[in-house]
Amino acid sequence: MVNDRFLDTITVGDCLHYIPLLQDDSLHCCLSDIPYGINLDAWDVLHDNTNVALLGQSPAQNGKSGFKRRGKPIRGWNAADRDIPRDYQAWCGQWASLLYPKLKDGASVFIFGARRTLHRAIVALEDSGFLLKDILAWEKPNAHHRAQRISVVLDRRGLSEEAVRWEGWRLGNLAPLWEPIAWFFKPYAHTITDVVLENEVGAVNMTAGQIDGKSPPNILKGLWFADGEVRLHEAQKPVSVLEYLLRLTTREGQVVLDPFMGSGSTAIACHNLNRHYIGFEINADFARQAIDRVTAHIAAVSDEEAGQQIHQHRLF
Ligand SMILES: C[S@@+](CC[C@H](N)C(=O)[O-])C[C@H]1O[C@@H](n2cnc3c(N)ncnc32)[C@H](O)[C@@H]1O
Repeated sequence: MVNDRFLDTITVGDCLHYIPLLQDDSLHCCLSDIPYGINLDAWDVLHDNTNVALLGQSPAQNGKSGFKRRGKPIRGWNAADRDIPRDYQAWCGQWASLLYPKLKDGASVFIFGARRTLHRAIVALEDSGFLLKDILAWEKPNAHHRAQRISVVLDRRGLSEEAVRWEGWRLGNLAPLWEPIAWFFKPYAHTITDVVLENEVGAVNMTAGQIDGKSPPNILKGLWFADGEVRLHEAQKPVSVLEYLLRLTTREGQVVLDPFMGSGSTAIACHNLNRHYIGFEINADFARQAIDRVTAHIAAVSDEEAGQQIHQHRLF
């Protein structure tokens, strides 16, 4: 089978190169935390913007912010800045159009994204042929939040009266306590029941997705990093939220693609649930960390299982 060389493997390289090598109509799901296009770090800059001040470093950022690049220009926005969202959409369209033929009809695609850029990814996936099913809200217990006090900035400019007038006001956003996950599916020719029978995708496992005994809601709560979960990537996602989405839409033995694998969280989730994964990661350091992490995880799980077997033998 064409996919065999990629199965349960994280391949180092550009997904734009590798996705076309996958077999058509072969994937049961695509689950990916794609670059959000919000300048988190060099890998997240997906535009040709020439406004250098935008991507510089501000003193406020040094060591204190998750963001490695300046998110707003020093001296105002220029016309080229308006192309940033369009560039991001075009970038999403590149991989989404390659992805489309590789999924089975009826298969789900989950894309984590940023509240302020996800709409561009949604349009790109729609333009590539996918249909949007829902936008889930993944709630986080905490998040980076820094908003500069404008009174401090005004004091620094020697405007003490203005500083008093603006006491309590800040430059920034509200605490970002949820992230959107866009849920798409690949349209199908006949009925959804035919698709479930033929491709084993398209239905939702409501039992596996129950939260507190109730049907799965589209607000995901309580899915955070486990105690001791290894943290390697600045944009890493908890394995628990990835497992939840996989349990909802896939069955054991099915094949899941993550074209933006980062530190390997999707691979760990697939391994835990007996799903096959195919992963691509362009950054060789991240890919190495991901491979080491998955290898260590598999070894730890098999040690644990072997330990349990010995324990069971002893019980008998
Ligand atoms: C948001 S991060 C994924 C983090 C991951 N979910 C985790 O838990 O570690 C996105 C990743 O996509 C990678 N990436 C960016 N462009 C890529 C491309 N064209 N092909 C493959 N990987 C790419 C980046 O290097 C980055 O590690």
